[in-house]
Amino acid sequence: MLHKRSVRASSPALGAALALAVGVGRPAAQPVMVAPKSTGRASLARLVTDEQGRTRLYAGGRPLLLLGGELGNSSASSLAFAKPLLAKLPTLGLNTVLLPVSWELIEPDEGKLAFGLVGDLVREARRNRLHVVLLWFGSWKNGMSSTAPAWVKRDQKRFPRAEVSPGHGVEALSAFSEANRDTDARAFAALLRYIREIDERDRTVVMVQVENEVAMIDSAADHGPAAAAAFRAPVPAELLPAGPSGAARPAASWEEVYGKGPATEERFMAWHYARYVDVVARAGKAEYALPMFVNAALNRPGHRPGQYPSGGPLPHLYDVWKAGAPSIDLLAPDIYFPDFAAWCERYRRPGNALLIPEARNGPESAVHAFYAFGQQAIGFSPFSVETMAEGAGVALKQAYELIGELAPFLLAERARTAGALLDREAPRSELALGSYLLRLAHDYTWEWSSPARNDPTWPHAAALVVALADDEYLVAGNGVIVTFAPATPGDPIAGIERIDEGRIRDGKFVVTRRLNGDETHQGRHLRLPAGSFGLQRVKLYRYR
Ligand code: DGJ
Repeated sequence: MLHKRSVRASSPALGAALALAVGVGRPAAQPVMVAPKSTGRASLARLVTDEQGRTRLYAGGRPLLLLGGELGNSSASSLAFAKPLLAKLPTLGLNTVLLPVSWELIEPDEGKLAFGLVGDLVREARRNRLHVVLLWFGSWKNGMSSTAPAWVKRDQKRFPRAEVSPGHGVEALSAFSEANRDTDARAFAALLRYIREIDERDRTVVMVQVENEVAMIDSAADHGPAAAAAFRAPVPAELLPAGPSGAARPAASWEEVYGKGPATEERFMAWHYARYVDVVARAGKAEYALPMFVNAALNRPGHRPGQYPSGGPLPHLYDVWKAGAPSIDLLAPDIYFPDFAAWCERYRRPGNALLIPEARNGPESAVHAFYAFGQQAIGFSPFSVETMAEGAGVALKQAYELIGELAPFLLAERARTAGALLDREAPRSELALGSYLLRLAHDYTWEWSSPARNDPTWPHAAALVVALADDEYLVAGNGVIVTFAPATPGDPIAGIERIDEGRIRDGKFVVTRRLNGDETHQGRHLRLPAGSFGLQRVKLYRYR
């Protein structure tokens, strides 16, 4: 049986009959330019939310899509190792590298900061025309504290550990220690000060991730003495809805408010992690106010907190993290589980731009990029991108090249775009965009391509759709068949007036072929064949 995945199109004007101010065959409306006038220096990267509630990342005064890749955890620990990798990334179509900076490497002795490597890496990335997103491996790296300096690790009296049960400490710093927090914040602030000094002119660094996959491992909560005391303390007023007629709720402990159990313990941890991270982020922003985010190790379905890393910036803890960490600009998912699209949608919320700083690196990476950018992501980044297999790398390069061409359309003011991801589990999808419904089916579902169904070279398919007008669309992707139906009253049948294949050159759609005959199944559908990424423009009309 074929399952259908219904996709929320990313425009707030979903299904509305409003014409987009993007001309046919002309470049999209110019992106909103909100950055200050040039002062001779590129302006600082910033997130800007428009009147429709869509957030864009601006770098150097221009909106930017982060066509990214994250280096493996240890690949940026020496310049000699990282140099050839940074040179290779642009050949994969990347414009951005996500680079770890480990606390142990920048502060090997307390107070003696060593930024030489960070500076070299940023300059090397710049030489390769890459933007940089720095990943602060400070107090936590995947919930552990392996990247904290030795002088922190060894002094557990001064820098207390989390305890999975009373008296049983683990190699993870406790979130309930001001010494842990403030020592981390000092190092992070120094890092941001240094980045400002070396990068204020070029603005190579565009975002910073604060910590890495903050969470409690092997237990829903920390059970150390400071944590236990905090658990008995009242739930902060910020987290409690006001009582009747706006009156403040009487003070009550976490268990009194939320009941006993791991879900309560996780919520408690999320609040304290958020407060800790907020102090670190604020210290960094005071030196250099780059956009900052946190990333989440996702909650494995069917498991409970502690079985999965507990208390991180997860979808069900969104309100806690937003309230607890106002200095963090967005919460981001690291997506290694199946159902990529569903995880994206849990993070794509008003006030939280979609950014995927880590995704499983594999043959599906390229189609995931199409989906994410169709759904207005500001960035996408397969993990350990330098180790990507050749075929997956070729696909990613093709995808990033095409998405890069489409960037002016995707970033345009009032752009109406959507992504659809089709796989074996959900080979159909439906998008309402402009005046039409777009029904997307995996190419393998088309009976004529049944051999491909049995031997799929490209098991995943995706489409990215841009409404140029109510009746005209750009459709990019692979392995997809699109049919059309009117979505608004009037003549009941959608006809295909014409389909052109093309590419974007200098922001304009340039026709390579008029597609007719077999390529459109004699006018019945638009087809992006499996095996490579393509771009087509379709114009529709209605009849009875
Ligand atoms: C998620 C982490 O954030 C990364 O640093 C890395 O450890 C990957 N997991 C490995 O799969």
